[in-house]
Amino acid sequence: MVEFTLPRGSKVGKGRHFPAPKGAKRTKVFEIYRWSPDDDKNPVLDTYEIDLDHVGPMVLDALIHIKNDIDPTLTFRRSCREGICGSCAMNIDGTNTLACLKPTDEISGRAKVYPLPHMPVVKDLVPDLNGAYAQLRSIEPWLQSDTPPPPDGERLQSIEERRKLDGMWECILCFCCTTSCPSYWWNGDRYLGPATLLAAYRFIADSRDEEAGARLDALEDPLKLYACRTIMNCTQTCPKGLNPAEAIGKIKQMQLERKG
Ligand code: SF4
Ligand code: FES
Repeated sequence: MVEFTLPRGSKVGKGRHFPAPKGAKRTKVFEIYRWSPDDDKNPVLDTYEIDLDHVGPMVLDALIHIKNDIDPTLTFRRSCREGICGSCAMNIDGTNTLACLKPTDEISGRAKVYPLPHMPVVKDLVPDLNGAYAQLRSIEPWLQSDTPPPPDGERLQSIEERRKLDGMWECILCFCCTTSCPSYWWNGDRYLGPATLLAAYRFIADSRDEEAGARLDALEDPLKLYACRTIMNCTQTCPKGLNPAEAIGKIKQMQLERKG
């Protein structure tokens, strides 16, 4: 019989345990994925017992408390602490979300914290997003127009034209959606994924952009766009309440209409 073993790096072992401080009354256990490229070891889950009476309400507050007061080696990204920069995206309690918007008291039992799934890991909770950023660059996410702007002002839009961008301009490029998508897990080298396709449609739909045709042509690829199987994980997980699946559907619809 053939025996399979998991590749190195995919076995997660038991890590260190940091007990609650003496006298803690409201203790919460955090299990946090730890991996470093600096040694040849498999990842582990470290366990931290936190006194919730001494930290802020969000998971990011707990992570900052751990780093500042318990274990300075813990590595994660964060910046704005208010759901705007997208840098604290991670998998919390089984769902991709923003640590700064996730209240700790919404998690029952142990709080399990992992990096965004199916991406290479730089260290601990920091995913390597270089591939995703390269895909984003490939759709040229900026306004393109041959017509020069009016000499005395900005390119104007009607209220209706501007409204078409609602639900898209709010995207903070956290990639929670892309890394929740099974089609992206298996075809991420070709399939652009929901975040980048939402960004593509944001410019296709913009009345000031004159390259919608070229943008649609560039997406005429069996895998770049059509690997989407409407699984809808992207829309369910988006911490900003956006609907990338709808944007992908609109691109497909426009391509169908062009073919007549
Ligand atoms: S659509 Fe939502 S989940 Fe996806 S990158 Fe934008 S904000 Fe993040
Ligand atoms: S720290 Fe900026 S979105 Fe969470």
